Amino acid sequence: MPCDRTTALLAAAVTLLTAVPSVSAEPLPWEERAIAAHVERDDHVGTLDAARLQALRDAGEALFKARFTPADGVGRPMATQAITPVKRKRPFRLAFFRTAGMDANSCAGCHNDPVVGGAGEFVVNVFVSEGFTDTDFDNLDPQFSNERNTNHLFGAGLVELLAREMTADLHRLRAEAVRAARAAGAPVEVRLLTKGVDFGLLKVMPDGMIDLAGLDGVDTDLVVRPFSQKGVMTSLRQFSVNAMNHHHGMQAVERFGSRWTGTDDFDEDGTADELTDGDISALVAWQAGLPPPVEKVPDDPRWRQAAARGSALFDEIGCGGCHIRELPLDSLRFTDPGPYDAAGTLRASDVEAVTGYDLAMLGWAAALRRNADGAVMVPLFGDLKRHRIADPVNAHFGNELLAQRFVDRDVFQTAELWGIGSTAPYGHRGDLVTLDEAIRAHGGDATAVTRRYVALAEADRSALIAFLKTLVIEP
Ligand code: HEC
Ligand code: HEC
Repeated sequence: MPCDRTTALLAAAVTLLTAVPSVSAEPLPWEERAIAAHVERDDHVGTLDAARLQALRDAGEALFKARFTPADGVGRPMATQAITPVKRKRPFRLAFFRTAGMDANSCAGCHNDPVVGGAGEFVVNVFVSEGFTDTDFDNLDPQFSNERNTNHLFGAGLVELLAREMTADLHRLRAEAVRAARAAGAPVEVRLLTKGVDFGLLKVMPDGMIDLAGLDGVDTDLVVRPFSQKGVMTSLRQFSVNAMNHHHGMQAVERFGSRWTGTDDFDEDGTADELTDGDISALVAWQAGLPPPVEKVPDDPRWRQAAARGSALFDEIGCGGCHIRELPLDSLRFTDPGPYDAAGTLRASDVEAVTGYDLAMLGWAAALRRNADGAVMVPLFGDLKRHRIADPVNAHFGNELLAQRFVDRDVFQTAELWGIGSTAPYGHRGDLVTLDEAIRAHGGDATAVTRRYVALAEADRSALIAFLKTLVIEP
């Protein structure tokens, strides 16, 4: 009887539905998705204690290692790699395309040398560009794309905190100069000195007009941008949102969501709201809490002796002029979202309460030296400043064709040398296989120092390398 058959079919269907709950709130352990549950930012606001920070960092570590699938929203058929929401002209449905992206299945696919969160081999170089509409073409033509080697993220929270304090100093100096010029009725010049790093001169007129011609190595808004080898990215938060879209086609709501684009599925892959504000906060917390690299005293007495000699030479010939050994950091308290991001990255003004945590709670913080004023000395061997590092005679580092964000092609931020003993190959493109080559490649503002290095006796050059090789990432 038709009626019985319908009943039987219905019953079978009901059994099937209850037996295989393919759509459930709780994903099954074997389900092909990387994100079992999104992180809610509201669950992690206020000041976190050690246990709550650990929970947030664990979620972030899982996201950093996650191999995303369609259920998570991997891929971006109708979005380009651009850091602002830009549509493709035609859909692109291949899962991976090594050069134009997506180019990896997880953050850890590139940042894994010597351990997750580390640097990357030449094979995982990235083609960075502002990313226009025809991504495939834009990314493959060197006129529109720059090739960069993966750098490590150890100590990244300290780097961001240093940059924030330096920015606050520069903004304070500017405000004081504006007030002084107005009070005096005459132009005032101020040297932009913060933590011993000199960002040039600012000249302020009595009417508040500012002459920026004397600025050196920083953007005109006086925000120190410590990330990317060009020094053009403000925060771990901004970088993580960029990278998620660029490498994985995973779009964060805070930039690609309906507030800015009018849609919850900007890349048209069928998955809405792929990364919550909380997911990005978790990723930031994991990266911000990574321990800084260390200076490891070698067991081998010959190496120990050579490294001591090399360390002295590093200062004597002037490497430390840019690669400043340590910068003082007043506070280890990290707030997220941070103070200097622009629209499209979650800002403190977008939220009712920020998340705050003291990096001093993490075991590694106790090992950092403090100066007489109680500031933590961050041993980064850098200055978070951009320098001209190539010239027509010594042109190697001028090898990019595209100026990024109005920064000249031959200008890069001083590479932080902490961890350099663990992160061959070298240079922003990773195309130098020895430290000796990387040092000799310094032109532009480093020319005098490079000449001094080249003029050293061979044993002294070797000692300098012995020293650099003690700066390692400890697993
Ligand atoms: C395909 C390789 C690749 C993948 C995947 C990748 N990165 Fe990167 N990462 C790079 C490269 C290359 C750089 C250097 C970029 C530059 O200098 O312009 C970098 C730089 C960074 C920086 C800045 C570090 C600094 O000191 O300047 C951060 C932060 C970062 N990546 C986070 C992430 C996160 C989070 C993910 C996952 C969402 C990720 N990366 C995925 C290759 C990759
Ligand atoms: C004028 C500033 C300046 C001086 C002086 C300087 N450097 Fe650098 N250094 C840089 C910049 C900028 C970079 C990034 C170059 C690039 O990859 O585009 C860099 C990169 C490096 C790298 C490669 C880092 C990496 O992650 O691959 C090494 C190694 C290095 N410097 C060592 C030295 C040594 C040793 C000296 C002294 C002989 C020295 N530098 C002097 C600015 C300087």
